[in-house]
Amino acid sequence: MTPDHPSCSGCGHLDRRQFLASASVLSLGALVAGCGDGIISGPEQIPTSLPQPFRIDPATIPELAPVGGRTVVVSGASTPVLVERVGSQQFRALSLVCPHRGSIVNVASDGLRCPNHDARFANDGTWLSGQPTTDLTPLDVRRNADGSLLVGGPRTPAVLGLDRSSIVFVSTPTGNAPAPQTVAISNGGGGVLGNLAVSLAYGANQRTGWLAIALSDAAAPTTLTLTALRGALPVGNYTATVTVGAAGIGNGAQTIAVSLLIQDPTTPASLQLSSSALTFAAPVGTVPAAQTVQCNNAGGGTLTGLSVAIAYGATGTNWLSASFNQVTAPATLTVRPAVGALAVGTYTATITVLAAGVASRTVAVTLTVSPAGLVVTLSAWPALANVGGVAGSVGNVNGGPVAITRLSATSFGAFSMRCPHAGTTITVVSGTSFRCPNHGALFNSAGVWQSSPQRAENLTPLTVIYTPGATTLSVV
Ligand code: FES
Repeated sequence: MTPDHPSCSGCGHLDRRQFLASASVLSLGALVAGCGDGIISGPEQIPTSLPQPFRIDPATIPELAPVGGRTVVVSGASTPVLVERVGSQQFRALSLVCPHRGSIVNVASDGLRCPNHDARFANDGTWLSGQPTTDLTPLDVRRNADGSLLVGGPRTPAVLGLDRSSIVFVSTPTGNAPAPQTVAISNGGGGVLGNLAVSLAYGANQRTGWLAIALSDAAAPTTLTLTALRGALPVGNYTATVTVGAAGIGNGAQTIAVSLLIQDPTTPASLQLSSSALTFAAPVGTVPAAQTVQCNNAGGGTLTGLSVAIAYGATGTNWLSASFNQVTAPATLTVRPAVGALAVGTYTATITVLAAGVASRTVAVTLTVSPAGLVVTLSAWPALANVGGVAGSVGNVNGGPVAITRLSATSFGAFSMRCPHAGTTITVVSGTSFRCPNHGALFNSAGVWQSSPQRAENLTPLTVIYTPGATTLSVV
């Protein structure tokens, strides 16, 4: 088909060869320099495979400075990608490969348009009119700690992260009001984590109204500020739970346990721990996330000289570290197992927390080291009792949901639940097959593509480690 460029004739469009020859990250401004109407194009068909993830630094790209700013990036041999700032610190990315026949879609001020058969798309990639086809493929955007972006690959759900899960305020009936404390909220997954919702629940049968919460921005990264309003509260320990959530996140709402401890300065110091037991689980060779125990003075006066002693169970030693951020309460005890070379099994230890002049307290620690990869307990998924049965969303591998299918009495298969056509998460149909809700692709229980308007590849297989007769399997 002859390419059609009604609004940009003679401007020297970039064809596929030119795109690929550029072999560098190009901004939209650079690409349209010879065009004058804000349009870029590449009429030849190009492969529809998703671009490999690449890094860009929005701080060095002027087009991405304002909210709504856009730029087209061609990194190495990848196909062009449209990157847009959609919030003060949020970005989205779209593949500019037309889903109809793979031409490069033009970027113009009034929308996105394919020069080949005139499919038109909204700025968010939604198909609008012209040649019927599907939406442009959204791509993953992850923010690195240095503010740069990792762009590419199928878009994965946002993952809500909090930098702390407990907060303690300490005061006395007449002392200074406790200083506000903050929680950093981040997106550890892809896409945009926006429309954050925060709720507050006070402990049962307790006083209410003593905690104020404020979110600096409704989209991550952002900060939640908590302020304890001591008022005329009498001596006591007041608790509340703050829940942070958002629609569509991959890991569900997260909570923060909040305590306001009003101490009587005339009573003796007393050691109080926020938890007396911790459990960790990790595959062989990995490092599970550290957990914390809050150490408070539940009495009056000063509680200082905090220290720990660790006693190990019979199965292994020297796999645990525990340390305080300071020696005077309130203090935070950080507990971190070092799985390292530990074999598959269960390990126990007891941490004794000591302080000057008060009774000690203990924390029981259990570490379960599992085979590498995602561990699936078969009894939790009844569909897997029968050959041909399918269980969906049993966990995540490489950041994406996983489906398990029973291939025989003694073997199982596992698949990524990302549709190979455009990356949409597929669903299980009747416990025996899969369907993509986006374009209707059907796959059988072995992950083999069956039918859909657009040809799709088979589901991406994952490796299953299973010993016949075992109650669990692992997916890597
Ligand atoms: S290739 Fe884009 S409309 Fe046909």
